[in-house]
Amino acid sequence: MIEGLAALNGSRGPKQAALESYHGLQCGFCTSGVLMVLTELQTKSAGMTVTEAQVRHALSGNLCRCTDYQGIVNATLAVLNGEEIISLSQKPTRS
Ligand code: FES
Repeated sequence: MIEGLAALNGSRGPKQAALESYHGLQCGFCTSGVLMVLTELQTKSAGMTVTEAQVRHALSGNLCRCTDYQGIVNATLAVLNGEEIISLSQKPTRS
């Protein structure tokens, strides 16, 4: 968890929850850098449509040795499109 990106109640913020929900992280080594790129992209693209190609270009300086980047890209697009993100840890379990 990156405390500066956490929700006000201390839980994972939407960007962190999105990476979790979209399986955009495994070991977490690259996650801090990905979150910083995502934060910058979110700031720079406010009110604009961002394409998958732009997301991939923005992430091109971040190496992830665990994922195929698709989960990271999907999480980024979900955040930038304002989708409601439900953290996996907050989803109800089957009974
Ligand atoms: S999740 Fe392991 S390097 Fe990206």
